Amino acid sequence: KNGFSFYHIIINKDIPPVHRAGTEGFMVKLNELTIEEKLRLLCGEGSWNTCGLDGKIPSLLMCDGPHGVRKVERVGENGEQIPLKSIAYPALQCLTNTWNRKLARAMGEALADDCKEKDVDILLAPGVNIKRNPLNGRNFEYFSEDPYLAGTMACEYVDGLQKNGVAACVKHYCCNNEEHNRLEQSSEVDERTLREIYLKPFEWTFRAHPEWIMCSYNRVNGVRASEHGKLFDTARKELGFDGAVMSDWGAVYDRTAAVKAGVDLEMPFSRENYERLVADYKAGKIAEREIDVCVERILGAVEKRLRRRGEKVKRSEKERLAVAQEIAEEGLVLLKNDGVLPLENGQSVSVLGRYGAGEKDYTSGGGAAQVLPLAGDVTLAEALKEVMPDSEIDFEKAFNADGIESYGEKPHRILERCAQSDVSVICVGTGRFVEYESADRTTLKLHPLQEELILQTAAQNPDTVVVLYAGGAVDVSAWADEVAAIVYAGFNGERGNRAVANVLAGKVSPSGKLSETFPVCLEDTPYYDTYRDVTVARYTDGVDVGYRYYETAGVGVQYEFGFGLSYAEFEYGDLEIELKGGLNAEVSYTVKNISDYDGKEISQLYVRDAVAFVYRPDLELKGYAKNYIKAGDCAEVKLTLDKSSFAYYSAAKDEWIVDDGVFNVFVGASVKDIRLEAAVVVENGGIVKVKIL
Ligand code: BGC
Repeated sequence: KNGFSFYHIIINKDIPPVHRAGTEGFMVKLNELTIEEKLRLLCGEGSWNTCGLDGKIPSLLMCDGPHGVRKVERVGENGEQIPLKSIAYPALQCLTNTWNRKLARAMGEALADDCKEKDVDILLAPGVNIKRNPLNGRNFEYFSEDPYLAGTMACEYVDGLQKNGVAACVKHYCCNNEEHNRLEQSSEVDERTLREIYLKPFEWTFRAHPEWIMCSYNRVNGVRASEHGKLFDTARKELGFDGAVMSDWGAVYDRTAAVKAGVDLEMPFSRENYERLVADYKAGKIAEREIDVCVERILGAVEKRLRRRGEKVKRSEKERLAVAQEIAEEGLVLLKNDGVLPLENGQSVSVLGRYGAGEKDYTSGGGAAQVLPLAGDVTLAEALKEVMPDSEIDFEKAFNADGIESYGEKPHRILERCAQSDVSVICVGTGRFVEYESADRTTLKLHPLQEELILQTAAQNPDTVVVLYAGGAVDVSAWADEVAAIVYAGFNGERGNRAVANVLAGKVSPSGKLSETFPVCLEDTPYYDTYRDVTVARYTDGVDVGYRYYETAGVGVQYEFGFGLSYAEFEYGDLEIELKGGLNAEVSYTVKNISDYDGKEISQLYVRDAVAFVYRPDLELKGYAKNYIKAGDCAEVKLTLDKSSFAYYSAAKDEWIVDDGVFNVFVGASVKDIRLEAAVVVENGGIVKVKIL
């Protein structure tokens, strides 16, 4: 039942990764292959390659992402996979908190260079699954609870990667929204919810023409994703997907059914499945023309890669590390600040907690996305010292024999030091032993000893800053009121501590905002009351995922979607909506920096159907912008509205429709902090009237 340990340890144990560099082998046409070769081509070679038909065609090498290239170099004695070192970028959770499409593209481009250096043809990334359950063990690998934000960021990432010569494999298609029983569970979801929430990020990403998608492990409405012909048909015929499909590792049970459904490549190679496919062909259960459809798509994908192999690396390692740092800086979300931040050069600082040590196990989650960093990070204290040279800064890991944050044996000395320092900075979080593939977190809270550490320190020093290294929402209620500031650093990669230090010291104004709600408690989440057992997960929360639910139902949260503080202050104004015909319009407004700090502001556009004939959530994100605005300056922002800003998926008509009526258009600094408002009237499929409110 445990997908990760089974497929990553047992299957891969005796199959070393292969790579044939260069462009050896030549492309053959479908009619130059025998049926035996075609059948063989439908199954991978070992764990990480497509089949090269003994040198007849090139074999593609694939590796896991999404925030670093995990090229398995060898298999250790215990069966664990040992990857090559590679730049550890911030996780997609942190990337999305930047709300910066340019950075999503830059990360894709940088990763492509990492892949090229390692002769990798396909990066098994990004994952665009929606964060329906805040405890999902893989949320750190995914973008957002919102399909528009997830899809638009993913689209840039994929385009950056592919334009720079490496194929993307978008995963996990689809409705793999938790890890609990992922191999068996059936995600039972209605058609409208499927289209609006779970397929939408894939649909957006398909605009960048990813060369591959990966099917998920779970069932969707009772049918295994690897046999769900309807879902692949939807992707290809309606959502714009024009690439090939591969299976998740071991997600195929009946290879013949999977071929018929449209899963072109099974990964990794399974002799049992291959032999059964051959037997099924011989028994007439599958026709050659059905096999040809998949073979052609695989040949097409191989040929595309062949043309791009050998392209030059464009960014130096230093430049790529700078991208990692910029993402970590912009992805950091300041959740609370009583005025203690930014720190001043000269203030004495006590940094506490193992999570600030820059160790990979605590600044990333575990599983397929785990990266062996290139150089590793410095400690937060070292990074602070660089930007606060006149300060006395000390560092204590402070953990007990179980590796949990605690004052342990020597509380007196450390607490005394915290009390004496101007500021205490406590580094806590989750890491790869809490957030990982194949299981979900069990609580939103930090370990009780971490909470105790925070409270004890805050009791000694009111100027206590908590830095959270976690890949998803955390319940901070036990200690938030006692501390002066909370910094959500996320899983921020191997330049993470430099980024945190730059923000703490005021070199960079924090500009990240939450791409996922921090609920008050699990019981408050729309997911909580939905039915699930070992084989079924009923998505009765429907389209009410994340803020769509909290805002519509009026349920309070700790920190809302789109929230994040800054050292700067911004004023919004001058809202205008210019009609461009039909449902197209340009929304423009200004954002003025009225503070003394230069900074970046993320402004968000939400739409509400005021008089819908079907249920609609109160607010839906339809646009966003991030602008760098110097102190005193003003930015003009332009966003667009089109049919997708107003439409819902009608299960009755099997199409996207827009009801006539009034729609509200909001511009806000978060989903709750709405600054500007307008109303538009839609008649006969077009906007006919605008009123700025
Ligand atoms: C994961 C995929 C991953 C694959 C190969 C699976 O267990 O779900 O995301 O790409 O393994 O490592």
